Amino acid sequence: MKRPCLLFASEFDDALAWRTALHALWPELDVRIWPQIGDAREVDVALVWKPPREALAACRNLRLIVILGAGGDAVIGDPSFPAAIPVARLVDAGMTRMMVAYVVLAVLHRHREFDVLEHARRERRWQYRHPRDPATCRVGVMGLGHLGGAVALALAGLGFDVAGWSRSRHDIPGVACRAGLSELHAFLERTEILVSLLPRTTSTSGLLDASALGSLPPGAWLINVGRGATVDEGALLAALASGRLAGATLDVFTQEPLPAAHPFWSDERVMITPHQASVAEPSTAAAQVVDNMRRALAGEPLLHLIDRTRGY
Ligand code: NDP
Ligand code: OXD
Repeated sequence: MKRPCLLFASEFDDALAWRTALHALWPELDVRIWPQIGDAREVDVALVWKPPREALAACRNLRLIVILGAGGDAVIGDPSFPAAIPVARLVDAGMTRMMVAYVVLAVLHRHREFDVLEHARRERRWQYRHPRDPATCRVGVMGLGHLGGAVALALAGLGFDVAGWSRSRHDIPGVACRAGLSELHAFLERTEILVSLLPRTTSTSGLLDASALGSLPPGAWLINVGRGATVDEGALLAALASGRLAGATLDVFTQEPLPAAHPFWSDERVMITPHQASVAEPSTAAAQVVDNMRRALAGEPLLHLIDRTRGY
């Protein structure tokens, strides 16, 4: 009888660690690591992050694609990938913890003015900055899903004055939740530190344009950990030049890797990390992949499917 077969394709993750973790949970699973794919028709499920097109095109009998992460835009946004196959994302406690830690670090960095202190330190200046009470610092989180919701809650727990914005209305303790385009301006207007955890969809692409960035109070700070395409990068550069934004912490970009000639690199006020705010580790996430694969093979309801119409 044919063994259940999973194709692993990611340049960014440790394939052998994933194979070990998957085998520990399901010893008979046949895990093939791209490009050592063998007979591609035997592959039942693909676990992928930014896969090459040919990796999925060859798998004619796929029942499920699992994104090795939270955002499925690289697969569902590309018409060359098979549209009839369900696509699931990971919802993983470890990934959430890592994202919360990154955003808390970035918010505190700005709130405690480490950017200013680092500058003074380079000039050997002892520049006392009286710390502000977090309760007076207005943080806004765009996207209140699995990651954004946890981020908003953690920031509220640290005492920040937190508002959130999403498509549908949420109810998060300690967070003033707003929803929809009609409430976007009011949300931005009060936000000194803006965190974006929006997915890339047709509705979010370019959402943070000149008008949206212009709604922020002067001297605001942007932390983008969602997707680069949600921000108009030209408008962001203009907002930095005009002082509307004091700086930005960017983990995601329209083009990745960020080209060496990009003006972000030469602006000291832009902190850059190479799309690594959060990742899924096999130690916590492999069980969910196995569970979803068993469901796919048994024809049972699948977990954490991406809705192709909504785009996330
Ligand atoms: P979810 O799908 O759980 O949540 C998405 C959130 O965005 C929801 O609150 C949704 O609203 C909101 N949203 C979507 N479209 C709109 C819109 N048009 N207007 C307003 N709100 C909108 O995703 P996660 O929280 O798990 O992840 C969010 C994103 O973070 C991922 O899609 C990915 O792009 C990015 N990411 C980045 C990582 C990194 O390392 N930088 C790591 C992991 C993820 P509603 O609740 O109403 O549906
Ligand atoms: C993701 C990411 O979507 O890493 O998981 O960006």
